[in-house]
Amino acid sequence: MNTLLSTPAGSLAVSPLSSNLEGRGYHRSVLEQEQTVHLSLVVPTYNESENVEHLVRTLCALLDDATSGDYELIIVDDDSPDETWRVAQDLTAEFPQLRVMRREHERGLSTAVIRGWQAARGQILGVIDGDLQHPPETLLKLLEAIDKGADLVVASRHVEDGGVSNWSFTRRILSRGAQLLGLMILPNVVGRVTDPMSGYFLVRRRAIVDRELSPMGYKILIEVLGRGDIRHVAEVGYVFQERLEGESKVTWKQYVDYILHLLKLRSRGRISKLRQRLRFPAGRFLRFGVVGLSGVVVDMAMLFLLSDPSMLGWALTRSKILAAETAIVNNFFWNDLWTFGDVARRQRGWTPRLKRFLKFNLVCLMGLILNVLLLNLFFNVLGINRYAANLLAIAIVTVWNFWINLKLSWRVTEVK
Ligand code: GDD
Ligand code: MN
Repeated sequence: MNTLLSTPAGSLAVSPLSSNLEGRGYHRSVLEQEQTVHLSLVVPTYNESENVEHLVRTLCALLDDATSGDYELIIVDDDSPDETWRVAQDLTAEFPQLRVMRREHERGLSTAVIRGWQAARGQILGVIDGDLQHPPETLLKLLEAIDKGADLVVASRHVEDGGVSNWSFTRRILSRGAQLLGLMILPNVVGRVTDPMSGYFLVRRRAIVDRELSPMGYKILIEVLGRGDIRHVAEVGYVFQERLEGESKVTWKQYVDYILHLLKLRSRGRISKLRQRLRFPAGRFLRFGVVGLSGVVVDMAMLFLLSDPSMLGWALTRSKILAAETAIVNNFFWNDLWTFGDVARRQRGWTPRLKRFLKFNLVCLMGLILNVLLLNLFFNVLGINRYAANLLAIAIVTVWNFWINLKLSWRVTEVK
């Protein structure tokens, strides 16, 4: 029984065929045996144990005939709970062209496909779903189109002979809506194909060689279109079938990933470069924001209790200062424990903590002065409702507070 394919790690770039083998430390004598093949078809699977045998039998029969055996089928399973990888591996004895990869430390459809392509030996790389919703016989038309010179050929539901089986109205709207969004955000990529959501296509290896592919979620085709050297695109119609066994893994997360993916491709790395340049600690800022929100609740509650005519009815500024100080104590506690906990833990003891509290207070008091000035500006000069004015002032002061606290109160001063 063939051993499982080792899972490539690190970069998500596909290497050219020659170095592909040397790159993986094969001994020269093995290289001769490691012949390239015409087609490497990757099948990403997750809990497809009831579909995989039928799929392998159908695909191998079809490709034995169409390519006289000059192909390989690579199943990339993400350590499915139903042990799809084991079912597939048991089939390798009968199907020598079948290779199986069991990924235990990575998850996700798109990266599964790329890891399969990295281990592949084909001049043509392809992907097909493992649940028989992509009709295997369409493969013959895809092969025909790519052998005629296309760099990429996509099985599309939206061209002649294309379609979907009885999809719900919602699913149709979601699919079309996603496509429309793609056309708005990334017209020159998504606009090149009629079915940018397709997960069924073939691409010429040289079109994506050494291109760092970093897809998100499900849409591997957009990544190939966005980063590959794709000149000639062909499309072939197919009807997306009903699933017979198992269920779709598509959740709302895939839709969010899809939008983020489009924006990332549109930024062409500008966003990551900008974050690099700013070294903006987004995660820490998010935590600071959550703590700030708890402070807003404390601030608002105290402002109401102290200044509202139905409660103590104290003067606005006096109430505001007391409300803000209560919120500052609340925020310091949570920031020291959670937002900057990793830094605080390197400066243990009451003295360093007191120092941090005083610095935090100082920064917040400066922020409070700014807050009161802004509150009065928005409320008395611009006539904005007192609570909306307070919220706006707090938002501006939050960014100020975060940045100064990051650079001052919780700066990583190595404790000698
Ligand atoms: N390795 C791996 N890891 N495979 C996965 C994962 C994962 O995290 N999630 C899903 N798969 C596999 C499934 O086992 C199946 O073989 C294939 O990817 C598609 O997953 P489905 O959950 O069935 O997706 P779908 O049917 O709703 O949508 C498919 O078809 C659409 C039209 O072509 C996907 O391919 C979509 O990307 C595509 O738009
Ligand atoms: Mn499916």
